[in-house]
Amino acid sequence: MRVAPSLLAADFCNLRSQLDMLNSSEAFCLHVDVMDGNFVPNISIGFPVIKAIGKMSEKPLDVHMMVNEPGRYISEVRDCGTRLMNVHYEACTHLNRTLTQIRDSGMLAGVTINPATPVAMLEEVIDIVDLVLIMSVNPGFGGQPFIKNSISKVTRLREMLARHNSSALIEVDGGINLHTGTELAKAGADILVAGSYIFNSSDPHNAIHSLSML
Ligand code: DX5
Ligand code: ZN
Repeated sequence: MRVAPSLLAADFCNLRSQLDMLNSSEAFCLHVDVMDGNFVPNISIGFPVIKAIGKMSEKPLDVHMMVNEPGRYISEVRDCGTRLMNVHYEACTHLNRTLTQIRDSGMLAGVTINPATPVAMLEEVIDIVDLVLIMSVNPGFGGQPFIKNSISKVTRLREMLARHNSSALIEVDGGINLHTGTELAKAGADILVAGSYIFNSSDPHNAIHSLSML
């Protein structure tokens, strides 16, 4: 299993040591949560901080934009050194255009769906994405309980990808620990995002390792 630690749960006063820890871990990429206080109720970090993180990180950045109309920020996200830009289905008026522009900018394009959005809504964009991010909590905060029907959404997405002959990856975000991660692995998830499970652990390296063994 590929593991994407969510920096939202990191100690921001010690970002350098947290990044050193992640650089020497088995993490597949770094998940960076951007919140605008509009699409979601919370505000997190912006481009100056992400740029600094991009310079220090040896892992590719997976930037999760919880922002209305994220298509306005494609060049800013790319200039932070981002590998994958995730935008919400619910936040894009012209989703096809936004995903195409992300790819044209040289990044991988990810589309994200909220817990209340059915997988079927992705039918018309599945051929132009590199990854689908299924939210297993309502976005905006770390440390929330896992929403169970996310597991069957992974199963349905796996079927859709097979029908389309797509090699897009399935990523899941929110409330992930060893227990929920095991269920998601069985359902066919490729990447697990985890914040509190990793950073609240007394041994974050081992927490990452335990998820990577699923
Ligand atoms: C929630 C964020 C998540 C969050 C996950 O809005 O998108 O990435 O940091 O945190 P945990 O793993 O604590 O649920
Ligand atoms: Zn996230």
